[in-house]
Amino acid sequence: MLLGVNIDHVATLRNARGENEPSVIEAAKICAEAGADGITTHLREDRRHIVDEDVFRIKNEINCRLNLEMAATGEMQKIALKLHPEACCIVPEKRAEITTEGGLDVFSQQEKINEFVKPLLTDNINVSLFIDPSEQQVLAAVKTGVKYIELHTGAYSRAFGSGDEEQEFKKLQIASKIAQENGLIVNAGHGLNYKNVFRMKEINGLNELNIGHTIISRAVFKGLETAVKEMLYIVKFS
Ligand code: PXP
Repeated sequence: MLLGVNIDHVATLRNARGENEPSVIEAAKICAEAGADGITTHLREDRRHIVDEDVFRIKNEINCRLNLEMAATGEMQKIALKLHPEACCIVPEKRAEITTEGGLDVFSQQEKINEFVKPLLTDNINVSLFIDPSEQQVLAAVKTGVKYIELHTGAYSRAFGSGDEEQEFKKLQIASKIAQENGLIVNAGHGLNYKNVFRMKEINGLNELNIGHTIISRAVFKGLETAVKEMLYIVKFS
């Protein structure tokens, strides 16, 4: 299983001071050197953390696969086509949310998403759709022509350790199975931490996990390199 490290919150910290520390580029470099399989960043409409210059510098200066998370807007599509990241994950975006709250509703916006992903796919970008673990959304994702989905693990993560954990976990397992049976490559992420991530290994054939907040949080105390290596150990060898 691969690990993409989401470094948005290094930018959150940087922007809190309005200066250049901590450096997002340095963070991407350390993650890559620690063995991360990819760097993930979410360029939000309001640029509250990652900004345009960050993604272009990561792409040009860091020897690591870049996964650009973005909303399905014309502005973001233009940036992606100029940046040409290895991967693009299409996420829903609400202005006031603290973080991405739910999955992209592909089913209700089938035509829009079909059209939106076309130029990205033509540009050979590995497009992924960030969706809730439901059969309806998985089958709608299949119809768009993308090869990847990322299953939203937020509900599972929140339910971890409670009476709802099993139910939320099963939804991920079933959605992943249906997706793979329909030829999709399945990634997962959101809210995963050093405890609840272990169960991702019970889901057959998961390709990649994208994890951010917990790694950056751990890095505050342990150092980024150690934080990434510990997660890599869990993801790859445990
Ligand atoms: N995957 C996607 C699509 C996301 O939007 C996010 C959050 O930006 C993550 C993964 C990482 O979530 P977390 O920071 O909770 O690990």
